Amino acid sequence: MKLNLGTLELGVATAATQIEGGNADTNWHRWAGREGTIKDGSTPARAADHWNRVSQDISLLAQLGIRHYRMGLEWARIEPEEGVFNEAAIAHYRDEVAALRAAGITPLVTLHHFNNPGWLEERGAWTRDDTVPIFLRYVKRMVTELSEWVDEWITINEPNVYATQGYVFGDWPPGKKSITQAMTVMSHLAQAHIRAYNIIHAISANAKVGVAQHLRVFDPANPYNPLDLVGAKGMAHLFQGAILRAMSIGRFPVPLKGAADIDAGKYYDFIGINYYTRSWVTGISEGTRPNSPVNDLGWEIYPDGLARVLRMVARAYPGPIYITENGTPDATDYFRGRFLFDHLSALMGSGVEVERYYHWCFTDNWEWIEGEEPRFGLVGLDYETQERTVRQSGLMYADMISNAGLTDQAYTRWVEPAGRSSENG
Ligand code: FCB
Repeated sequence: MKLNLGTLELGVATAATQIEGGNADTNWHRWAGREGTIKDGSTPARAADHWNRVSQDISLLAQLGIRHYRMGLEWARIEPEEGVFNEAAIAHYRDEVAALRAAGITPLVTLHHFNNPGWLEERGAWTRDDTVPIFLRYVKRMVTELSEWVDEWITINEPNVYATQGYVFGDWPPGKKSITQAMTVMSHLAQAHIRAYNIIHAISANAKVGVAQHLRVFDPANPYNPLDLVGAKGMAHLFQGAILRAMSIGRFPVPLKGAADIDAGKYYDFIGINYYTRSWVTGISEGTRPNSPVNDLGWEIYPDGLARVLRMVARAYPGPIYITENGTPDATDYFRGRFLFDHLSALMGSGVEVERYYHWCFTDNWEWIEGEEPRFGLVGLDYETQERTVRQSGLMYADMISNAGLTDQAYTRWVEPAGRSSENG
């Protein structure tokens, strides 16, 4: 055995807006409808047409032996107008989670994954504190509807990415550039998580609730330069440290703000980590380490960062850890096999116990402003025909699931021939 995975369970992750297709009125459909917002001019209307292909996709999951599936809900389908719930959409999700269960697959359901209904976006979305109770009403409804089949919930995906892309850099909806607003948004998302955590537990006794936190490693370009050091520490705090603390234990470090009735406590049943890359920090600017191996989007491929992030989290927040996303765009599937091996090796060698690993993504999907171009799937997608083709890395993943690790033969077959980065591909 080249790599023994012990009790680690492997799953795959997805998000509603990125795979479902269709014309739900979301912040992303509106954003993509505007000229020049999405790099390849695509919209989420096509995506993987998963809404119409749920049973086909569940069969494919089952065929690959995948037992853990992270999926999202499209709030705009469920509540297309403020306070008006769409029974057919709710029934669709009920059928989907029931079908997953029937196929022996455990769903982990994300309630918010960058996706707001259009009407919510119009009224200022998460910049407003009265968005929190609106979100909680939707959460209460969906947890009540789905809890017969679903015990595992992610309230919010990557609050820091949502807030910085949409409110600092402004290249995601709603296209604002205000650090103050970004901090308000993060504070409201943190408050919403804590309140949702309590609500979900009140409805469903067996529930396990967490957040999918986007965590990176911030390293100073020059560790002897105090400006780089301070820059790296400051960014790590503002981007991820503060929000992780607020959402996990209800203590809101500056510049985040709590609420008078939110006490310190433990607001997680697992810490969810989405890990992709490292940030290389020079003063107050952040970039990619020079001459490093990179993926198709130019992100550094840095497996040790996963181990470092795991140790950082485990030290501060005891309890179960799920890797709720990890993966890479690799259009030719040239290096994904090695990426998987290197990241899972780093995870197993970290000394931190991890219960789950969800690979991003199951099939190729609509990658926000990057559009249809990046290919994150273990399963390749022909957008024109919607044909799904399992990639070599998908076969390798299925093989690892059935052997609880990577055998010597699997290593020779899939890892040895793989490249190290897209630069060589
Ligand atoms: C994460 C997002 C996910 C996907 C991957 C590539 O930041 O949560 O939706 O876009 O990156």
